[in-house]
Amino acid sequence: MKTLTLNDGGRLPVLGLGTWQMGGGRSRDYSRDEEMTALIRDAIEMGYTHIDTAELYGVGHCEELVGRAMQDFAREEIFLTTKVLADNLRYDDLLRALDGSLERLQTDFADMYLIHWPNPEVPLEETFRALNRVAAEGRVKRIGVSNFDVALLRQAQELCETPVVTDQVRYNLYTREPEQNGLLRYCQENSIVLTAYSPLKDGVMQNETVQAVARKHGATAAQVAVRWLTRQPQVVTIPMSTNRDHMRQNIEALTLALDEEDVQRLNQVSN
Ligand SMILES: NC(=O)c1ccc[n+]([C@@H]2O[C@H](COP(=O)([O-])OP(=O)(O)OC[C@H]3O[C@@H](n4cnc5c(N)ncnc54)[C@H](OP(=O)(O)O)[C@@H]3O)[C@@H](O)[C@H]2O)c1
Repeated sequence: MKTLTLNDGGRLPVLGLGTWQMGGGRSRDYSRDEEMTALIRDAIEMGYTHIDTAELYGVGHCEELVGRAMQDFAREEIFLTTKVLADNLRYDDLLRALDGSLERLQTDFADMYLIHWPNPEVPLEETFRALNRVAAEGRVKRIGVSNFDVALLRQAQELCETPVVTDQVRYNLYTREPEQNGLLRYCQENSIVLTAYSPLKDGVMQNETVQAVARKHGATAAQVAVRWLTRQPQVVTIPMSTNRDHMRQNIEALTLALDEEDVQRLNQVSN
């Protein structure tokens, strides 16, 4: 799998496995545990060594499933990202939240730990006091943020004792906010990875232009949407799929040769 070099020298696979809805959404779903664990295991074998989860997903159950699936692999083979809830950004709450995540994930450390959403009620200084501590302890290898605009990201950079490695935001062919609000350019100019979530949502796969470009290359619309993101400097993406064929197609998309004309057309796409 192709990787990007992070601003701390680490390497991040440009495609990660999204896991929202595995093990439940906003409540725990235990009904498909074996199926989901096997699915995550197969994904890792297929090349999804970068996994994106969060304490939010399935109220922690998703982390449990990821933790189980990871047991069959050497820990260093996996780049594991998890996220702390906006409700857990107070100093003590964050320390407790990380303990819970690591226990569920059956590991001593997260490769990347993100603030899932900003919380205006908690001073960022307090959150970063806790984050800097867990990073110094080695329980978190890197710190990142999610759903931060440029102003907040700058504040995070000032407070973080290690480089802020990523901002994870919604970005796809229809949701162009990171282009419009300057976040994409800021990340590219400051060696921060923009992790694009929901790369296939908002109806992008139904778009006629996307489908036409896909036909031209004998590819699928999903593959075009994934490639359009990963061809951009400093951008990685984390599509979620519970379908092994789709997972494979998303990996194959990384080698799709979009030409300049395709890119021009895709850049014009709007919903
Ligand atoms: N930081 C945040 O606030 C935040 C917010 C949202 C999401 N995320 C993360 O980002 C991940 C991805 O976002 P998402 O789950 O919202 O949306 P997504 O990955 O854009 O879309 C998921 C949907 O796409 C389908 N799909 C995947 N690959 C496909 C393919 N090759 N062909 C056709 N359909 C395909 C999946 O169905 P099948 O299962 O049938 O393939 C699923 O219904 C999440 O799982 C989560 O880890 C983070």
